[in-house]
Amino acid sequence: MENEIKNIRQLFKEDLKAASDVKALEDIRVKYLGRKGIVSKLMEKLPSLDKDKKPLIGKELNVLKTFIQGELKSKGEVFISKNNLMEEVDITLPGIAPSVGRLHPITKTLNEINGIFISLGFKIEEGPEIEKEFYNFEALNIPLEHPSRDAFDTFYIKGDILLRSHTSTVQIRIMEKTKPPIQAIMPGRVYRPDAVDASHSFMFHQVEGLMVDHDIKFSDLKGVLNIFTKQMFGEKTKTRFRPSFFPFTEPSAEVDISCIICRGKGCRVCSHTGWLEILGAGMVNPKVFEAVGYRATKYAGFAFGMGVERIAMLKYGIDDIRLFFENDVRFLKQF
Ligand code: PHE
Repeated sequence: MENEIKNIRQLFKEDLKAASDVKALEDIRVKYLGRKGIVSKLMEKLPSLDKDKKPLIGKELNVLKTFIQGELKSKGEVFISKNNLMEEVDITLPGIAPSVGRLHPITKTLNEINGIFISLGFKIEEGPEIEKEFYNFEALNIPLEHPSRDAFDTFYIKGDILLRSHTSTVQIRIMEKTKPPIQAIMPGRVYRPDAVDASHSFMFHQVEGLMVDHDIKFSDLKGVLNIFTKQMFGEKTKTRFRPSFFPFTEPSAEVDISCIICRGKGCRVCSHTGWLEILGAGMVNPKVFEAVGYRATKYAGFAFGMGVERIAMLKYGIDDIRLFFENDVRFLKQF
């Protein structure tokens, strides 16, 4: 029996040497260790052996079994790692270029707008998108039941809680907590219950501006916005202030830039006027100062508000606002 064990070990070594793949190893395992395998058969004979031989033979059979298992396992590992290398890494194939992410065009435009105002000494402030009626309307001199509410209509959540319809709310929040001098811009999302089309969205972005001190004049507003439009749209851009109305500024203006497509000659984009409207602005209405507890005779200031999507559409020549929100990579990839 002891010789037999030795022979089996030798036989196994030869079989193992000849094995060239995982399948052959499995055949060998069955041949030796399978239920009807060579080693198992010998194990079955153990009980009929002499009492004094039993422990020794039993031990040797176990050693053989462990040996076979160990050898099969390590040769198997060699096959698997070789196989994987061959199947998974073909170094002759061209590589797969990882697609690199980039900033959304609205984020890019926002960063650019912020950068220009930061270079002029403005600080960035933010306020909540879920607001109280007071900040969206009353404090901005838009009384209940007044027709000017329609222009800033919004989604109501519950009672006097709503989604802000403009970033002018943040003017109030800043002035409530700080005394002038104030020089800040306030970027953020706003919401309006508008039907979605090429130029309307129920959610968009605005950047609000506010500068308040003892002696801020309309000419300061013009100076700041002139620098902004030139840096944003190019040195040759002209700016035009048209009289307008906002409840929270007096006087108020709508600000146009010379059409960046036709340079003011008149084209389809500017409806043949030569001008493109880009923002609303004006001197802070004394009623707003009163609402935040400032003495209206003591301070003066200007405010403005612009739509970021509109600026991005003009700058990049995009004709449909919905493109910003559809997450189509073919569109987003171009920026
Ligand atoms: N809040 C105005 C709007 O959403 C824009 C604006 C801001 C106008 C500040 C004047 C001053 O249309």
